[in-house]
Amino acid sequence: MLDTMIAVIGGSGIYDIDGLDGAEWVKVDTPWGEPSDEILTGSLAGVKMAFLPRHGRGHMHTPSSVPYRANIDALKRLGVTDVISVSACGSFREAMAPGDFVVVDQFIDRTFAREKSFFGPGLVAHVSVAHPTCPRLSAACLEAGRAAGIAMHDGGTYLAMEGPQFSTLAESKLYRENWGADVIGMTNMPEAKLAREAELCYASIAMVTDYDSWHPEHGEVDVSDIIATLMGNADKGREMVRRLPALLGSERAPCPHGCDRALEYAILTAPE
Ligand code: ADE
Repeated sequence: MLDTMIAVIGGSGIYDIDGLDGAEWVKVDTPWGEPSDEILTGSLAGVKMAFLPRHGRGHMHTPSSVPYRANIDALKRLGVTDVISVSACGSFREAMAPGDFVVVDQFIDRTFAREKSFFGPGLVAHVSVAHPTCPRLSAACLEAGRAAGIAMHDGGTYLAMEGPQFSTLAESKLYRENWGADVIGMTNMPEAKLAREAELCYASIAMVTDYDSWHPEHGEVDVSDIIATLMGNADKGREMVRRLPALLGSERAPCPHGCDRALEYAILTAPE
């Protein structure tokens, strides 16, 4: 059995988590450069925890400039086993209303200006991301969120866009009507792919802040609406996180879905 260490990567509006025993911000260096910020470590109900503000505490990083590789590598170096991404998103579904949380299970990656892999010339690997999130970790988030009284949606396809501008009306309709996306955001890719390459279990909780631009009865998205919804969501997010240690336990067996063995059949370069 391995010690569980749960990391939360917090998005816009979430710059720390409270109630950690032995809380300490630690600096972690990586070969991929500096992570977005120091990482808050500690424990919650006897389970090791880490928290990383994705955009940095002063919100310095744009979705394109977030150092995704350094972030995932830093968490791996700290001994993290389970990564929970918490981020704001727009919704393409009437039923996924602002204030609701979506436990994402699929992605469409439309980002194009980011480093997407730890591998490359000299060490070639092709990892499977057919099922990019961990069902075990996602189920725990769903249960924790429901117990905290949050309107949780079990499954959803997240379209990751480059940004920083929001979508045009034509794009919003295309993603919703033709591509079957449920929510849209700017940060879960390449994060989810890198977590898989790092053999970490990954779950994504997308907090709905707006209806993007497709909804005839809602205006176009603007940052002030997003921030207003996020303020309410941040407390709900904390409540969900507070319940996770009891559900995941302080020790864990190998992931039943193989997230922690993702590289077993993925590396092509012959060992020297
Ligand atoms: N984050 C929050 N709302 C969003 C939207 N509508 N599009 C992209 N990212 C978002």
